[in-house]
Amino acid sequence: MNKIIYGNAYDYCEKKAGEIEGRFQLIYLDPPYNTKRKRGARKSYNDTNSNWAQNMRDVIVNAHKALKKEGFLAVSINQMELFNLKPVIDTVFCAECFIGLFPVKIRHKDRQLMINATFHDVYEYLLIYRKEKSTRFFCESKVADPRKFVYKINILDDSPQKKHIAGKQIEIFKPEQYEIVKQDECTTGCFRRYIIAGKLKTANWSGEWYENYLADMGTDLLIKVHGLEQEGLGYRWFITSNEKRKSGVYFQSLLNAGRPILPTNDLDFTDEVTNIYKEGGAGCDYKDSKKPEKLLGFLLDICTRENDEVMDMYGGSGTTLACCIKKNRKCTIIDNSKSAYEIMKTRVRNMRNGLDIDGVKYEFECEEEEI
Ligand SMILES: C[S@@+](CC[C@H](N)C(=O)[O-])C[C@H]1O[C@@H](n2cnc3c(N)ncnc32)[C@H](O)[C@@H]1O
Repeated sequence: MNKIIYGNAYDYCEKKAGEIEGRFQLIYLDPPYNTKRKRGARKSYNDTNSNWAQNMRDVIVNAHKALKKEGFLAVSINQMELFNLKPVIDTVFCAECFIGLFPVKIRHKDRQLMINATFHDVYEYLLIYRKEKSTRFFCESKVADPRKFVYKINILDDSPQKKHIAGKQIEIFKPEQYEIVKQDECTTGCFRRYIIAGKLKTANWSGEWYENYLADMGTDLLIKVHGLEQEGLGYRWFITSNEKRKSGVYFQSLLNAGRPILPTNDLDFTDEVTNIYKEGGAGCDYKDSKKPEKLLGFLLDICTRENDEVMDMYGGSGTTLACCIKKNRKCTIIDNSKSAYEIMKTRVRNMRNGLDIDGVKYEFECEEEEI
């Protein structure tokens, strides 16, 4: 169920602590940036808060509790508070759970409107964290080329030496206990062979594991490591180096061989920002840093799956809610401004009646609550 809440973000989390704990796959925060200005779009709003960092900390502590263990936090910010915000989130999430800084281009470089500024700043930023450091973004895979999967591993004597290393069970086969056969074409049970050299030693989990735990075990050993990575078989094969080949080798099965197409942090929404006032349809213009649906769509794609729950504690014009409805996620969205609350209600009404700019009539449930 989608929910629009009129109220203070912190108060909502405190009041509903039991109900929202561990529930959300993504929490998106687009707080006031503490620009210390009263200008342009913010003529009616003084964006100054001497207690900004502490207020953010309180909200982020609540966000951390409300996230599922495999969940993500994404926070929009500009450079005024970027360098204060990161240490605040680091203390709550831990620095290792910081995934990355995503610069978001929001202005054309030639459209310089603030002529009194020292330079024309075209970027805002997204800081993205995960609750647990092993969580990965959802991404598509490039299908593997089966012509490369031509190595067959034949076990000649199935009595390996068994050990436990770094929490993993391993089986070690001496050179006379196995053979590797290169075939002309891919058949069932064939593998692709990777030499663990260069970047594979440090930027690849299997390569790194080999270097840390297996590289010094001896020469030409075939080693089966159970539970390593998401190898479709439940284990991964390695061969240690020898006189001729100075690097180790790992084998990949076709079962899980697709190469992930990773999201990039090369985000340019300048065209969308130029037309942002149209998004949501009539009555949904919002002068307080309204975000393009394409930006929220990007976050939903990489951090969530269909039917996941998402929370936005600084809802504004309801961009996150609109995207969640369009992408079949469930959104709880909060704002403490009456005008934002009214705009969000207008936006969902427009979506139901086919009056958003895409002209589609959406069917969905959405509750409203004032706290
Ligand atoms: C930058 S705007 C969000 C814009 C939104 N992402 C969009 O696309 O329209 C920040 C919003 O946070 C709201 N806000 C500020 N302090 C808040 C608080 N303590 N609790 C809830 N909302 C708050 C403001 O009313 C404003 O609408």
